[in-house]
Amino acid sequence: MERSRIKVFDTTLRDGEQSPGCSMNVPEKLRLAHQLDRLGVDVIEAGFPIASEGDFAAVQAIAATLRRPIIAGLARACTPDIERAWQALRGAARPRIHVFLATSDIHLRYKLKISRRQCREQARDSVRLAKSLCADVEFSPEDATRTDHEFLYQVLNAAVEAGATTLNIPDTVGYSMPAEFGELIQSIRQRVRGIEKVTISAHCHNDLGLAVANSLAALAAGARQVECTINGIGERAGNASLEEIVMAMRVRPDRYRYDTGVISEQLFPSSQLLSDLTGVPVQPNKAVIGRNAFAHEAGIHQDGMLKNPLTYEIMTPQSVGVPDSRLVLGKHSGRHALGLRCGQLGFHFDRRELDEVYRRFVVLADEIKDVHEHHLLELIRQARGFGGDLSPEEAESTARYSLSG
Ligand code: KIV
Ligand code: ZN
Repeated sequence: MERSRIKVFDTTLRDGEQSPGCSMNVPEKLRLAHQLDRLGVDVIEAGFPIASEGDFAAVQAIAATLRRPIIAGLARACTPDIERAWQALRGAARPRIHVFLATSDIHLRYKLKISRRQCREQARDSVRLAKSLCADVEFSPEDATRTDHEFLYQVLNAAVEAGATTLNIPDTVGYSMPAEFGELIQSIRQRVRGIEKVTISAHCHNDLGLAVANSLAALAAGARQVECTINGIGERAGNASLEEIVMAMRVRPDRYRYDTGVISEQLFPSSQLLSDLTGVPVQPNKAVIGRNAFAHEAGIHQDGMLKNPLTYEIMTPQSVGVPDSRLVLGKHSGRHALGLRCGQLGFHFDRRELDEVYRRFVVLADEIKDVHEHHLLELIRQARGFGGDLSPEEAESTARYSLSG
C-alpha cells in the first residue's frame, strides 16, 4: 500500500501560547519559529494578529523571515480580523489565513448569539473575503465535535464553495472519543461537496487525555493535516503533542502508513528550547521527550537494557535527539547496573565484592531516592573497610566525585 504525506501544522506559537505561563515576546517567538523550521513542520501558525500588537509583530516578522514553511495567521470570521491577519501575512512566501467560527448550538446560543442561518452565511462570507486576499485559506468550525452533524456539513459546504482549501475539524473541548472522531472525519469525506480538492485537518485538545489518539484516528479516516504543539502545550489540558504524533507514526509504520517532513532528531532540542523560553518545565514522564522517557530504574529493566536496548526501548533516544538512555540507580536497581556504574567509576569487583557493595547499596537506596556517584564512592569505601590503596583510575573518580574529600 502507498504511503501518504501528512502535513504537520504547528500551533505552538498560537494555541500553545494561549496556555497559562507560556506567553513569549517577539524575539522569543522568532527563535522558536526558526527551530520549528529546522524541525521540518509544514505549517507554522505564528499567531492571532488582531489579538495584540505583539502578536501582529510576531506574525509579521516570522512571515518576512521564514521562506520554506507555510505561515498561518488566525482570524475570527469577521472583516477586521481577516484584514489584520492579511496585513501581518502579506510579506510571507507562503501565507495562509486561518478563519474560525463556532458552529455548535452551545456556542451559537450563549457565546455568539446568532442563528444557524447567520452562522452559515458568516462562514461563507468570511472565507470569501479571506480568499479574495490570499489563495490559501483554512476554515475551522470551532467546537465541531459538539455540533449537529447535518449543520456541520452545511457550514463546511459553504466554506468549500467560498474557496477554503483546508477544512480543519477542531475537537475544541477535547470531548470526542477516537472511534467517534474517525467516524466524523469519514462522514465529512462523504457528505461535503468538493471535499476531494480540500485537505481535511484534525485539531484536538487533551481534556480527556485523548488528543493524540483522536488525531491518529482522524488520519486513519482520511485527514491529511494534523494540528499540534511542542510539548503538547495549549489551552487547559493542552493540544495534541507534536512529538507523540510524529513518533507514533515513525515507530508503527505497520499501522500508520504516513510520512511527515519532520526531522525527528530535532524533537528534543525543540522541546528544550520551548521549555527554556517559557520557563515551563516538561513533566518528567512526558512521552518521547520527558526526562524519564529513556530512564530505567528497575533492576530487571536495567539488566535487559544492558543486554539489548530493544528489550525496553521502542525507539532510540538518539532518534528523537536525546543524547542517551539513563540507568538510574535507585532502590529498584539490580547488581548488573550497579556493577556497570562502579566499573565506570574505575572500580572493578569480583562477585563477592559486588555482593557486599550491593547489600549496602540496597540499604541506602531504601532511604534516599537517587544514589549518586559520591554515595557510591562512600559505599565502596565502607565495603572495603575504609582501607586499601586506590588504583589511579579509582583515585581519579574519588577525587572528582567524593564529597568527603
Ligand atoms: O480549538 C479550537 O477550536 C481552535 C480553533 C481556533 C481552531 O483552536
Ligand atoms: Zn485549539
